[in-house]
Amino acid sequence: MNFKNPKINIISLEEVDSTNTYAKNLAKEGMDEGTVVIAKRQTMGRGRLGRKFYSPSGTGIYMSIILKPETDAESILLITTAAAVAVSQAIENVTGKSTLIKWVNDIYMNEKKVCGILCEGSFRDCHTLEYAILGIGINISKPDTPFPDEIKNIAGYILEKDDENIKEKIIEEVIDNFFNLYKNISKKPHLEIYRKRNLLSGKPVNIIQCDEIIDEGVCTGIDDDFAIIITKDNDTIKISSGEVSVKERI
Ligand code: BTN
Repeated sequence: MNFKNPKINIISLEEVDSTNTYAKNLAKEGMDEGTVVIAKRQTMGRGRLGRKFYSPSGTGIYMSIILKPETDAESILLITTAAAVAVSQAIENVTGKSTLIKWVNDIYMNEKKVCGILCEGSFRDCHTLEYAILGIGINISKPDTPFPDEIKNIAGYILEKDDENIKEKIIEEVIDNFFNLYKNISKKPHLEIYRKRNLLSGKPVNIIQCDEIIDEGVCTGIDDDFAIIITKDNDTIKISSGEVSVKERI
């Protein structure tokens, strides 16, 4: 694989519990920024909000990037959203298929989730980031064993048939696109593209906290800090963490 950024160092594994956990241990031992752990299969792939990430053998990309940004805790949201843009563009550039970003960092194709992103930070004190692990899971092709019941209505994949060449190209593009944005991350170079690819734009949504719907409204945009803007009657709410889902139309 070839990368524009000379700092990229790939560690390829057949199987691992979670590439995020593996990369976190490396970062703790002092491994450099730009180290990327890629596995063919994860036995305990982790998602946001304590969920599992289904990671069957050979049909997905499971990778984690060690980052050591010289910024504060807020940069986690910038990193995550930049990764979402990097993945969305990579899929489009390599396969020609369009994807959208569901706030905050899921990638959807044809109304199905094809990628999830989990960025975990380790903090020296409350605000200083020691390192961040950017984990990206992409469902490239149809898994040999069907998606588990709890995600079968949500999860999708990009290609009907596995293709190692395409997988490799997507990995290269994701990494190149991401580091291109990351070098100027504090200037938010991805804000406008993120807004254009906002899946929830204009849609009625539920606001969810701890798996409970706590409010509803219509998504009317993304603010300058990547918070989602939700409008209800004449009120506007901005949310910077948590979950929002498209309301079922009856
Ligand atoms: C989500 O959809 O909630 C986030 C999923 C993130 C999955 C990726 S796969 C590579 C990395 N290792 C993990 O254990 N999780 C992330």
